[in-house]
Amino acid sequence: MHSISEYQEVISSHFNSLVVAKEPKNLYEPIQYILSLGGKRMRPVLTLMTAEIFDCNYKKALQAATAVEVFHNFSLIHDDIMDDAPLRRGKVTVHEKWNINTGILSGDAMLILAYQYFEDYEPSVFRDLAKLFSKTALEVCEGQQYDVDFETRDDVTIPEYLKMIEYKTAVLVGAAMKMGAIVAETSKENADLIYDFGLNLGIAFQLQDDYLDAFGNPETFGKQIGGDIIENKKTYLYLKALEFSSKDDKDQLLHLFSIQPKDNSDKIETVKSIFNESGASKVTQEAIKEYTQKAFETLQKMDISEEKKQILYVFGEKLMNRNV
Ligand code: IPE
Ligand code: IPE
Ligand code: MG
Ligand code: MG
Ligand code: MG
Repeated sequence: MHSISEYQEVISSHFNSLVVAKEPKNLYEPIQYILSLGGKRMRPVLTLMTAEIFDCNYKKALQAATAVEVFHNFSLIHDDIMDDAPLRRGKVTVHEKWNINTGILSGDAMLILAYQYFEDYEPSVFRDLAKLFSKTALEVCEGQQYDVDFETRDDVTIPEYLKMIEYKTAVLVGAAMKMGAIVAETSKENADLIYDFGLNLGIAFQLQDDYLDAFGNPETFGKQIGGDIIENKKTYLYLKALEFSSKDDKDQLLHLFSIQPKDNSDKIETVKSIFNESGASKVTQEAIKEYTQKAFETLQKMDISEEKKQILYVFGEKLMNRNV
């Protein structure tokens, strides 16, 4: 096994040398742009790591890892259009740097490119990868649609929220890992268990993303702080704040999440203080721990060496304590 930082190094140099740019420039430059902005590269690292956990050379998983990361970056371009986001990884978003139409088409091209990376695999592995990928991509669309639908609803429940984040985010983390398992041609049991591990880690990851969206450090987070509050996103923080608040705070929160003021600074500050004072911030932190713990329990059931489990624990711990 390699260390987490070694996998990160492999992925980062792989993406540094990945060339997608050709004519027409307005289609390919935005693709090269978003891919060059980096990001954590968590999903492709997980694909490589999983392949080696199941005794396969990570190099065999590089194309699948590339597919996952290109798909993820496609989803970010479209997500930033849908969320009207100005910043991504500390830089201006694709649709703001170019325009919305460019963001749509470059994103579409990336989805196709992602599939092409599977073409290097032999037919049976290709089939399993493509099948998992199609299922996952469709679920991501479903999750994204729920996320947008929830913006204008005031009766979203916690189970609905959890389903939404499972689809928009967690299934891709699970799939990134299962792809490593497929490439390694391990047992179905192993592949399913690692998927569950990734799924629960992915839920914790999105809860953390929601938390950082409100409380992250604007210097380092790389996205607009308070973007979810501006967009009236029904996050765990928001739903728990509604549940725990006094009548006055609850009414204020409901009101603030039904309007879209020109200047959002007061709205963001008020909402954040209600998140903190209601105890919503605290239970969100607890939920992050709980889902990470759930992922670790799945790990217990797996028939792999302690050394390998340790790498996955460390990865999960690092993710839980991240600030980007
Ligand atoms: C952002 O994903 C979108 C979510 C699912 C929360 P990441 O936080 O992995 O983004 P990058 O790739 O590191 O920028
Ligand atoms: C994004 O969720 C999920 C997908 C991109 C599919 P968010 O909208 O919370 O992601 P960020 O915060 O913009 O990265
Ligand atoms: Mg977004
Ligand atoms: Mg979004
Ligand atoms: Mg977010």
